[in-house]
Amino acid sequence: MCGIVGYVGDKQAADFLTEGLSKLEYRGYDSAGIAVYDGEKIRVEKCVGRLAALRDKIKDDVPQGTIGIGHTRWATHGRPSDVNAHPHTDCSGDFVVVHNGIIENYLTLKEELIEKGHAFKSETDTEVVAHLLEEVYNGDFEESVREVLRRIEGSYSLVFMCRQHPDELICTKQDNPLVIGLGDGENFIASDIPAIISRTRRTYILNDGEMAVVKKDSIVITNRKGELVTKKVFEVNWNAEAAEKGGFEHFMLKEIHEQPKAVRDTMSQRVAKDGKSIVMDELKWTADYLNDFNKIYIVACGTAYHAGLVGKYYIEKLARIPVEVDIASEFRYRDPIIDEKTMLIVVSQSGETSDTLAALKESKRRGAKTLALTNVVGSSIAREADQVLYTWAGPEIAVASTKAYTTQLILFFMLSLYMAEILGTLPKERIAELVAELQKVPAQISETLSDVEPIKTFAKQYGFNEDVFYIGRSLDYDVALEGALKLKEISYIHAEAYAAGELKHGTLALIVEGVPVIALATQKSVYEKTLSNIKEVKARDAVVIGIAAEGDDELEKYVDHVMKVPETDELLIPILAVVPLQLLAYYAAITRGCDVDKPRNLAKSVTVE
Ligand code: AGP
Repeated sequence: MCGIVGYVGDKQAADFLTEGLSKLEYRGYDSAGIAVYDGEKIRVEKCVGRLAALRDKIKDDVPQGTIGIGHTRWATHGRPSDVNAHPHTDCSGDFVVVHNGIIENYLTLKEELIEKGHAFKSETDTEVVAHLLEEVYNGDFEESVREVLRRIEGSYSLVFMCRQHPDELICTKQDNPLVIGLGDGENFIASDIPAIISRTRRTYILNDGEMAVVKKDSIVITNRKGELVTKKVFEVNWNAEAAEKGGFEHFMLKEIHEQPKAVRDTMSQRVAKDGKSIVMDELKWTADYLNDFNKIYIVACGTAYHAGLVGKYYIEKLARIPVEVDIASEFRYRDPIIDEKTMLIVVSQSGETSDTLAALKESKRRGAKTLALTNVVGSSIAREADQVLYTWAGPEIAVASTKAYTTQLILFFMLSLYMAEILGTLPKERIAELVAELQKVPAQISETLSDVEPIKTFAKQYGFNEDVFYIGRSLDYDVALEGALKLKEISYIHAEAYAAGELKHGTLALIVEGVPVIALATQKSVYEKTLSNIKEVKARDAVVIGIAAEGDDELEKYVDHVMKVPETDELLIPILAVVPLQLLAYYAAITRGCDVDKPRNLAKSVTVE
């Protein structure tokens, strides 16, 4: 998720570009850059680091000109660096582009362009777009951009500059946001409203496939076929702070609702073209490589640890390799048995958690092969691990992790399928079946998010309790742990997750009349057993909110309320079942007037022991 800006008018472009980017740093901040046409050429200034580093770089020699584009990056392809920062140019510097999204066929295009003599400078997918425009340019800027769009695949917001057309910007979008701000004798482009709200509140919101040719005194919008599109002006009535959250009240709620896209992006490029298997070009594992291991450890903290528990289930179920999951702060001090036949998988949204990083370094020292699942390109953990798989969830700002968790689960699921195919532990038909189910998950999350009213009601009704229990078996228990953590960390309610079958060994003593119990019963393989545990707590007059799969009409006979999630393979249901629990925690915190995005005592990334 990156921040994009563009300006064309009579004022100095660099002023708006840097100001606009400062309002978009929540969309990404590992590097930044601007490009301005100075009357002769397009001057590009960019560098790694926050926007402040760019401002410092240009402060004594600000690019002069009244048309330009800018970008603040959240790296997906290519580590954060000066050369990987946007804007990107072609060989001549006449074509310049900024991009938010993922060009899925960039490697193929890059090979073709290199064969035609193009010299690449960066590791990014975006630079391919600049060279492709150079390759197809026929004197008609707009038509040439259309040709580029016909050849690229993936998700994008793009803004183009061309030295031969110094009075116009061309922008377009597919599955990523892009707005045009309407000024007086000037116009603005941005990936998000916060960047332009201080200059104008009158905007055009571009739809997928639409392209705009933006000059200082005209905006011409067409669709994929080149037909003119008439746009209604969208008057922005948000305040600046609300705009950063895309109109949501908190970053946490925005990030919960970003999960369909985050999961879709994390899956993109990893499902084979025929849709029947998983590809992981980053790993290139073989059966010999995998058969060399006699143990896999998954090590992490907090939510990432909970994702690791689900990852264990997936790898053992699908790839049949023994897995042990450990909390990083415990693992590193218990003298674990590690040698060159050990694989260590670390999971970390931030890639900076000190306990996890320390466990990674200790395991490497003892000879383990290491793999990191992380959301931050170029993070300490990403750089320390032998291999890395990225979740492409975009920056997660709220302290409570949501979209990182669901993208970690989907990544573990894909990794397990990838391993199963290499090892032959699953028939190809079963792999294809699961890959097909996997691709329905983003829409199923959207469906789960489409009706939050019942959850708001539960949160209001039970939000003032001091004790809540989450119970489940198998994968439901793993999700119960994550649900309890969400409630604890943002609403400050004491919440405890318990293996449903374990209640009778002590905790049942705490279940008395009116105690809320969230019971997850989505796993068919243990459903009857879970039902009997639910009856146990109901017999003690607990108030039970059940989480069930769509087709289950049985559970509601035994509980006080039911929240249902779409039917899918029980292996994938955890990715859906966690969503109502995230929302329950969110609305309970709201009910109690808690600071949802910045809960007391907590930090987004725990970089101390
Ligand atoms: C989860 O909501 C918390 N913010 C916390 O438990 C977090 O998951 C943990 O600190 C691990 O962070 P990481 O994924 O960045 O390593």
